Amino acid sequence: MRRHREPVLAGATGDLVEIGFGSGLNVPLYPPSVRRVHAVEPSSVGRRLAAKRVARSPVPVEFVGLDGQDLPLGDESVDAALSTFTLCTIPDAGRALREVYRVLRPGGRFLFLEHGVSPEPDVARWQHRMNGFQQRIAAGCNLDRPIDRMVRDAGFDVEQLGNDYLKGPRIAKPWGYLYHGVAVKLSG
Ligand SMILES: C[S@@+](CC[C@H](N)C(=O)[O-])C[C@H]1O[C@@H](n2cnc3c(N)ncnc32)[C@H](O)[C@@H]1O
Repeated sequence: MRRHREPVLAGATGDLVEIGFGSGLNVPLYPPSVRRVHAVEPSSVGRRLAAKRVARSPVPVEFVGLDGQDLPLGDESVDAALSTFTLCTIPDAGRALREVYRVLRPGGRFLFLEHGVSPEPDVARWQHRMNGFQQRIAAGCNLDRPIDRMVRDAGFDVEQLGNDYLKGPRIAKPWGYLYHGVAVKLSG
């Protein structure tokens, strides 16, 4: 996973909000250009698992909220935002993306690494078919969200977008179609 996370994190700067902070797997990858992290994570287990990474982090991390759909941050108050493998799980991910857009300053960047619907019709068919089951067994995770379209629908300009399948002997295509990139909140 690190090889997928690193290039996405490389563009992080300034005051950053991370939605779905989880156990803090991104913490060791924040570049020195990040000044402060506002972490949003509903799971107490996640926050507990993150504690050691947060304690060792050279970048100050503060838990500021529990829900990416309702960010406790002012309009245009952060320089960057980050989401890794989280838009699949947030119940109303469109609303979370609009919140991210609201809190980013004009010119601010949203960095994302997510999995979602595949452009291959056979794979997508399986993703739609398996989605209900996946949600039940994997804490609400959706397999078939069109991540790039959702990011654009929130108002962002997608500046960079890459797609890959996750590689690994135990990762079948329906679980591993990645969307990674950078979206910008244009000014005006
Ligand atoms: C698959 S985990 C990814 C965790 C982490 N971002 C990573 O890359 O390892 C999805 C995360 O989204 C969080 N999450 C679920 N609902 C959320 C919400 N409404 N707002 C913010 N995060 C949420 C979960 O608690 C979980 O930590």
